[in-house]
Amino acid sequence: MINVAVLGYGTVGSGVVELLFKNNRLFASKTGQPVAVKYILDIRSFPGDRYESLLVRDIETVLRDPEINVVVETIGGAGVAYEFTRRALQAGKNVVTSNKELVNEKGPELLALARENGVRYLFEASVGGGIPVILPMMSGLGANEIHRIVGILNGTTNYILTKMKNDGMSFEDALGRAQQFGYAEANPSADIDGLDTCRKLCILASLSFGKYVHADRVRPEGIRGVTPELMTLAEQQGYRIKLIGSAQRLPDGIVEMFVGPAAVPASHPLANIEDVFNGILVSGDATGDVLFYGKGAGKMPTASAVCSDIIECSKPLCESILWDVTDNDFVRSPAPGRFEYLEGTNIPIVMSI
Ligand code: HSE
Repeated sequence: MINVAVLGYGTVGSGVVELLFKNNRLFASKTGQPVAVKYILDIRSFPGDRYESLLVRDIETVLRDPEINVVVETIGGAGVAYEFTRRALQAGKNVVTSNKELVNEKGPELLALARENGVRYLFEASVGGGIPVILPMMSGLGANEIHRIVGILNGTTNYILTKMKNDGMSFEDALGRAQQFGYAEANPSADIDGLDTCRKLCILASLSFGKYVHADRVRPEGIRGVTPELMTLAEQQGYRIKLIGSAQRLPDGIVEMFVGPAAVPASHPLANIEDVFNGILVSGDATGDVLFYGKGAGKMPTASAVCSDIIECSKPLCESILWDVTDNDFVRSPAPGRFEYLEGTNIPIVMSI
């Protein structure tokens, strides 16, 4: 029997609970055993909520219960979520999460802790919302040397840019809508200023290149400077402006990383990824380009990715990931003159077709 405790009953946590109940038979058939939500931990009250009877406030209830074998961390941030994750792993419980900040901040320590305790720390939902990208990259593309990852990794900013371009919506109105839909972070500056994209890119780079990359190795730029006029100028030159994250391994082993608004040729698949959708192009030495596409944010798509990791927890534990922290000097920003720029702007052209 898989007994799940969900920490944090916000947008993603409530989506996970809803999906585990809705598709319960499916989870049982995929894992070969019943799957139940035993606790929902939150300091808030939810009077009248359908699952109110499962609410607990004390983490000890979860940690001391030997029946709990999967803890879902959807609290967010690197504060209490870090403490609860550490303690759950130390207590021999698998932890699955959508928390990209914590994965990027403390990934090496938490992955090592999971290995020491014979459990998993899984984070499919931390990148690309509902798009399965981490497991497919690690297993389906496992035969490849990955040499480039480039993509649109933030649903909120892609939604804002799309609404500004297609509907003439103001930046503020588009952001307000993204918040209503549950796409944006609690503090949307992480979305708008590029840090969320940066963290996700660093997670993918760490997985692909085998060494841990912390977000402070990259200087992200966000979309505050992207105006409707700039977007029109780009269109006139045959480009679309997107918030792009790119990590490319150069022949000397250096990984060049870029996060910022960039011009993508209008005919390139990434240029046509709109609204809350994300697109992640992964280039392997054997396979060539593989494009992952789907909803990059939102309650149920992200819940889908979290729940896929719960299913993973039912499988025999083989080799777990470890991130080497010994050397961070292999990351650098693109050198001056590395890119061409959109005429009359400081927007780099990062893709060719
Ligand atoms: N705020 C994030 C986004 C949520 O908009 O992409 C999904 O990680």
